Amino acid sequence: MELKEILARRRMVRAYAPDPVPREAIERIVSTVRRAPSAGFSQGQRLLVVTGQATREAIGDILGSRQWVSDAPVLIVVGVREDDYHDRYTKPDKLVDGSEIEWPVPYWHFDAGAAAMLILLAAIDEGYAAGLFGVFVEAMAPFKQLLNIPDDVAVTSCITVGRAADDSSWDALTSRLTQARKPVDDLVHWERWGA
Ligand SMILES: Cc1cc2nc3c(=O)[nH]c(=O)nc-3n(C[C@H](O)[C@H](O)[C@H](O)COP(=O)(O)O)c2cc1C
Repeated sequence: MELKEILARRRMVRAYAPDPVPREAIERIVSTVRRAPSAGFSQGQRLLVVTGQATREAIGDILGSRQWVSDAPVLIVVGVREDDYHDRYTKPDKLVDGSEIEWPVPYWHFDAGAAAMLILLAAIDEGYAAGLFGVFVEAMAPFKQLLNIPDDVAVTSCITVGRAADDSSWDALTSRLTQARKPVDDLVHWERWGA
């Protein structure tokens, strides 16, 4: 599929048919993480793939009132290990005046987002729909415990993948409808910020 076509189809889908996604397709989707950029090639991104129905239902119970999450046949937790960045940036070729850099933004969070974007696009390329949700602070401890996610891996988001079902009932509820898409000039500046 052409990138333009993938981008035209790219939207968060919040209803899924129950048919499973073949293992090979899931493997192709998650292996895009190896193509994700990462600061200093730290490769701190970590994914966890969940397909088991009981676990998906348990996740749904922890999150509450998000049925589409456990309906999706595949959940991909997008995690990141911040320590990989500190390990990398304390190597001799990354030291600045003998010290680890001062981070302008948390590069590990940026890299997790980049990996998430590749997963969303790869899922569409495989002919599936995808959605993304956050795990809120109050749900984080039970969520990590259920999936045995180590303390040094932060959960940045979770992605649903599967065959799209009708999610039009969400249209009135989601930010997509309540928020207008901003004009490109509000988002993109040229040469120098402002008029
Ligand atoms: C970091 C992040 C967290 C999000 N969390 C949720 C969420 O918890 N639940 C949800 O339904 N959508 C979530 N979304 C999806 C956004 O609401 C969605 O991307 C936005 O409304 C634009 O719609 P579109 O992606 O379909 O174009 C999240 C998106 C991002 C990038």
